[in-house]
Amino acid sequence: MLDVKKIREDFPMFKNYPTMQKHRFCYLDNAATTFKPVSVIKGEEEYYEKLCGNSHRGDYDLAHDVDVMYASCRKTVADFINAQDIEISFTSGASMSLNTIAYGLSKFLEPGDEILLSEAEHASNVLPWFAIAHQKGCHVTYVPLENGRITIDNFKKALTKKTKIVSLAQVTNVLGYIVDVKSLAKIAHEHGAYFVVDAAQSAPHMKIDVKDLDCDFMAFSAHKMCGPTGIGVMYGKYDLLKQMDPLLTGGGMNTRFDTCGDVLYQLPPLKFEAGTQNLAGALGFKKAVEYLNEIGLDNIQEHEAKMRKRIIDGLKDIDDVIIYNPDAESGIITFNFKGVFAQDGASLLNSKGVCCRSGNHCAKVLLNYLGTDATIRCSLYFYNDEEDCDQFVEACHHGKEFLDAYFN
Ligand code: ALA
Repeated sequence: MLDVKKIREDFPMFKNYPTMQKHRFCYLDNAATTFKPVSVIKGEEEYYEKLCGNSHRGDYDLAHDVDVMYASCRKTVADFINAQDIEISFTSGASMSLNTIAYGLSKFLEPGDEILLSEAEHASNVLPWFAIAHQKGCHVTYVPLENGRITIDNFKKALTKKTKIVSLAQVTNVLGYIVDVKSLAKIAHEHGAYFVVDAAQSAPHMKIDVKDLDCDFMAFSAHKMCGPTGIGVMYGKYDLLKQMDPLLTGGGMNTRFDTCGDVLYQLPPLKFEAGTQNLAGALGFKKAVEYLNEIGLDNIQEHEAKMRKRIIDGLKDIDDVIIYNPDAESGIITFNFKGVFAQDGASLLNSKGVCCRSGNHCAKVLLNYLGTDATIRCSLYFYNDEEDCDQFVEACHHGKEFLDAYFN
């Protein structure tokens, strides 16, 4: 069992932002971003205060020390998903990783090929595929959802002989269902398709083993897992990474070029890290992974499930709340107050000290499926406690009455 009271002491935000709208501050927007523990903040500071040099460029001791530090960050983050360090490149985040993967895979596509996504994907796992589909004359297709989920049957029906790439979120960012990417990757591979996993909403909350999943690529961001903003991971099987062209070119990622335009790139992972890397971010990211490892991903998942149940039980008694994913396995609860626009609902929660995101959550195809313009999303992390859950439920209890009184 987690000692959440003690854990919260590691996060300066709880001390420095104690109230909102004169209520206890209650942060339930962790799918958007998470707070950072002191060790992560100090990690970034450590780079600026003690190791402020460039990487892979200098022949002096400090440069060497920076290289050693950066390599150790890569190793720690690679271990986190059971990858080899040469299989992960640091990017600016999951969006950049997915753009890089899409661009890199575009050379394997022929006109008429299909790229299979689902109706629940976030914009970052849709728009990069639109871009390469337009360039290469390919089609983007979608696995239809069944009760909000991607089922094996629906997946099989959506796969065709033309499907060359499948790209799916392991945990969808609005409905929060866990997708069985291991089984789906196996089926996709039997059809000769590459399998990409958007792990932005899963890596922070559950153990991931890329070897066991046998996915070809994976993307996630540090900031959703207690790490700094502006850094994330692109994982890929090494042979594929070697064949792919980089989306970004520039300093550090090439070994030589000449006036004729002939260029020799570095091998992965450096091939995908043009320019000076986010060195401070990498050190902060390493500290975040160490922090999560110490707490334990299993403990995190168990705690979130407990908090989720408390909220769902609390909301059950409220007639005016529609929950779109009552049975999801993650800490994401998506809902609306009946007859109330989601952003008004979120503003009501704000007035009670509660932070939740509202809108389409960048998953615009999903809205057709849900049959609504917008939803409110409450998303938990391991530092949320019973008091957060109860404050949220209490705010929802007053939600509809308050809004009716306000608008009528
Ligand atoms: N991708 C983030 C979210 O779902 C920002 O809120």
